[in-house]
This record gives sequence, C-alpha cells and structure tokens, in this order.
Amino acid sequence: MDNEDIFEKIGGKLTVNIIVDPFFERILNDDKIAPFFSDSYLDSQLAARKRFLTTLFGGYNDSDLERMREIHKSMVEKDGLNDKHFNAMLIHLKNTLLEAEISPELISQVMERTEGTRKYVLCR
Ligand code: HEM
Repeated sequence: MDNEDIFEKIGGKLTVNIIVDPFFERILNDDKIAPFFSDSYLDSQLAARKRFLTTLFGGYNDSDLERMREIHKSMVEKDGLNDKHFNAMLIHLKNTLLEAEISPELISQVMERTEGTRKYVLCR
C-alpha cells in the first residue's frame, strides 16, 4: 500500500483536523520532547502542526526525506535529538491514533511508514 492509500484510509485531512490538538497536547506534556518545540513555529501555528502530522501519517514523498534531514539537523547537532525522542514521538502518535479509534491494522502501517523517516530525522 502506498502513502496516499494509507493517508486516505486513515481519513485524510479530516482525521488530521480531529487529532492535531490531542496529539500536540501529548507532545507538549512530555518533558522529554516538549523543549524542542518551545522555540519553534510548531508551538503555535496550526497549519504547520498539520503539515508535521500529515508527514507523520505517511503523507510524504521520497523527495521530502532529504528535507527532513535539513529541518532536524541543528536539533541533532546542537540539542541532542536522538532515538529516545524519536521513540517517544512514535508512542504519542500511536496512542493518539488508538484514542481516535483508527483500526490497529492501519495504525501499524502508519507506524511502519513513520519508522522509515528515522534515519533522515536523526541525520544518519
Ligand atoms: C517521527 C518522525 C518525524 C517526522 C516525520 C517529522 C517531520 C517534520 C516536518 C515535516 C517538519 C516541518 C513542518 C512544516 O512543514 O512546517 C518538522 C519540523 C519540526 N520537527 Fe520534526 N519530525 C519527526 C520527528 C521529530 C522529533 C522526534 C522531534 C523532537 C522531539 C521533532 C521536532 C521538530 C521541530 C521542533 C520542528 C520545527 C523546526 C523549526 O522550528 O524550525 N521532530 N518535523
């Protein structure tokens, strides 16, 4: 199944709109990862939060992957962004999707797709 199928099956933009607030609430209540967001535009801009979440949903193309490396580069180099933070993000995503009653089968496909961004986000 390709990324567009996953994104549509999960409910597309409608689902993004529904879960964007609960998802960011989880992130901003997690002391391990909240500090990364406190100085970022993601702290306040709803549209940017939705883009972020859409990407996590698997709504990215292969050509976006190198850009992800750029976006997170200084966080890795200066602020120590690592697997611990990435794993925490995956758990928040999974729990948000479970709470939204997305089917377990689709959730595991989303998780697999998001896992595919790890080496880019962590600049390996
Ligand atoms: C799990 C996989 C991840 C994906 C797919 C991802 C994807 C993205 C994308 C697409 C953006 C840009 C949003 C826009 O278009 O404006 C972004 C920005 C950002 N990401 Fe990630 N990200 C991931 C993990 C993380 C983690 C683990 C952290 C920190 C704990 C993080 C912190 C941030 C921050 C702070 C920004 C905003 C950067 C700025 O202010 O310039 N991301 N991410």
